[in-house]
Amino acid sequence: MADVVTLSREGPIAVLTIDNPPVNAMSQSVRAGLDQHFRTASSDAAVKAILVLCAGRTFIAGADLKEFDTGVHPPLHRDLFAAFEGSAKPVIVGLHGTALGAGAEFALACHYRCAVPDAKIGLPELTLGIIPGAGGTQRLPRVIGARAALEFILNAAPVAAQKAKEIGLVDRVLDGELRAGAIAYAQELVSQGAQPRPTSKLSVDTSGFDEAFIQSSLAGVRKKMRGQRAPDYAVEAIQAAIALPFEQGLDRETEIANLTLDSLESKALRHLFFAEREVAKIPGLAESVQPRNIRKVGIVGAGTMGSGIAIACADAGLEVTIIDAGAEALARGLSSIKKTYESSVARGRITAAQQAERTALVRGANELAALADVDLVIEAVFEDMALKQDIFRTLGKVCRADAILASNTSTLDLDAIAAVSGRAAQVVGLHFFSPANIMRLLEIVRGRNTSQETLATALAIAKRLRKVGVVVGVCYGFVGNRMMLDGYVREADQLLLEGATPEQVDRVIEDFGFAMGPFKMNDMGGNDVALRARETTGIRAQRPSPYNESIDEMARMNRLGQKTGVGFYRYEKGDRTPLHDAETDSIIAKVAARFGVKRRASISDAEVQLRCVYPLINEGAKILAEGIAYRSGDIDVIWTTGYGFPRFRGGPMFYADSIGLANVLAEMKRLHALHGHYWEPAPLLAELAAKKSTFQEWSKSRKA
Ligand code: COA
Repeated sequence: MADVVTLSREGPIAVLTIDNPPVNAMSQSVRAGLDQHFRTASSDAAVKAILVLCAGRTFIAGADLKEFDTGVHPPLHRDLFAAFEGSAKPVIVGLHGTALGAGAEFALACHYRCAVPDAKIGLPELTLGIIPGAGGTQRLPRVIGARAALEFILNAAPVAAQKAKEIGLVDRVLDGELRAGAIAYAQELVSQGAQPRPTSKLSVDTSGFDEAFIQSSLAGVRKKMRGQRAPDYAVEAIQAAIALPFEQGLDRETEIANLTLDSLESKALRHLFFAEREVAKIPGLAESVQPRNIRKVGIVGAGTMGSGIAIACADAGLEVTIIDAGAEALARGLSSIKKTYESSVARGRITAAQQAERTALVRGANELAALADVDLVIEAVFEDMALKQDIFRTLGKVCRADAILASNTSTLDLDAIAAVSGRAAQVVGLHFFSPANIMRLLEIVRGRNTSQETLATALAIAKRLRKVGVVVGVCYGFVGNRMMLDGYVREADQLLLEGATPEQVDRVIEDFGFAMGPFKMNDMGGNDVALRARETTGIRAQRPSPYNESIDEMARMNRLGQKTGVGFYRYEKGDRTPLHDAETDSIIAKVAARFGVKRRASISDAEVQLRCVYPLINEGAKILAEGIAYRSGDIDVIWTTGYGFPRFRGGPMFYADSIGLANVLAEMKRLHALHGHYWEPAPLLAELAAKKSTFQEWSKSRKA
């Protein structure tokens, strides 16, 4: 294997170049290479300064995450960084790409930092449930001050080179090419007689780092890192940088870092990091299969979903033709697209020039014939099989023979839609989540006849739209909605019939860490949506009663939720705050009586939590066994990116693995005895529990 670190000379400058694709993670071999060449350069009298660069697409993008599970072998980050910091010769780093985590921490241990303009520097550790543990919490406050350091670490998002220069993190933004620019900068330092500048010797500027600032910063971050402990630990580590001498501060940082590394929160978040990348690897999809080039997209249906998809496409630079047969509906859709862009400009998210560019990419038409020349059509009309089949029949005739046809169906049989198109190999499901321009998840539904090329194109489109595309098979509701409708929400509804209130269920689920409880969610999306699917698919007849009865009763009474001002909750005009509605209680009581459900005076929060979450696990197990999802991690990605399942619990399947499948099974059996049918344990759950195995192990074994 080629050396991952090489040493070369440019006059008096020793250049250490790291080449450890894909992202130059600071693995053991990188550390060993740096250590070895640093020693050589240090002892060479002709060398006046040492420059560290990276080959490939990025500077060191972090510690090697795989080592977190296998253990870190010497040279340790701490010792290596101390050696570079203690160098008698100035050490310079030249940054490009993304200098993240241990990469940024290494840069902080070096004496001078230069960067190309599009380089980004960041400490994303909190997104993995850990704190920067390679000196970052001790060195960063010494370089940019405690207040800015806390903001930087809590923010967890990288900053661009110019901004990094403004806050004092980078000394020089280079113009032009990295290597030449960085060498010139190093030579300039040598000729100026620049001396080593060990960060550890600096004192921490504590101005503005008071309790009020800390608390308000933590309150801000809690919204996006719900339920996570790592932000509090980061504060503790920065406080140690202020209170303790450098070496003791490092000791404290190590203690805290190890604590976070061992936490379930961190294991869950690391699992999701890898799972979100693994979803793009499709078993059996040959690497030689090339995705089609997509430039022009047609969208059928100018409702909320169609308009959101149009924005997502225009944001990615695709030309969009949006179709709606109704002139008024089309005008409404186009105007909502325009308004979304106007508000993005007002909020400073995009520039006026970007707004003009993106708006110009979208045009409207009333006839499907206007899609004769597009590369891809995404149908986004409401869930009605006859309507969708009609559209696909026409699309099959009017579109170019090589165009791909996608349906945004969320529950219907994709194969039945594909069958009428005359080109089933070019049909795929692209299930977006509302608002489609914001939500990261895209379920890619692979039909019976979907070709490899179509699938590869769908995956490429997901990437282009900056979404996480997860491939799933055909069944009612696919992965996400099936688990929701047949598991989670179905049981939440059942709990209401037995005596729980929407307020209690929502509170318990939000305390568990979900972004929003199921009844607030139903009220937001509209209580009629799922009813329509249950009616058109005839699914109700196939499920034992009662099945989502209180939700459907709400829909039948036109209590659709926010859009009608009342659903499970009541809403004041122009306000989305859910308020208690006494009529909801009596409606639920009547439904319960109609189905002969015995009501209890109270149901414990613990029972509510268990009964909402465990059906997800059970349905997930069936989905895995049926091959509807490839891996348990895929299900976890779907539920954390599309349904608000708490990331710090890693998704429903990881959560089940972490509790222990034998424990899950025991509860399932108990509930089966009490509540019957829906609680029958999935065979795969029973099998893995008996073997003391996990969904993750099972998924891995099938890959091997
Ligand atoms: N350790 C080990 N592997 C890593 C890694 C790390 N720190 N960072 C990325 N990888 C791997 C990915 O798993 C992926 O592997 P795969 O191709 O087998 O799936 C590959 O590198 C490319 O990563 P990907 O995220 O797909 O590329 P990208 O260009 O979209 O993004 C980064 C690159 C660096 C921005 C992104 O990978 C990232 O954020 N990495 C993590 C950085 C981090 O959190 N560092 C702190 C750790 S202390």
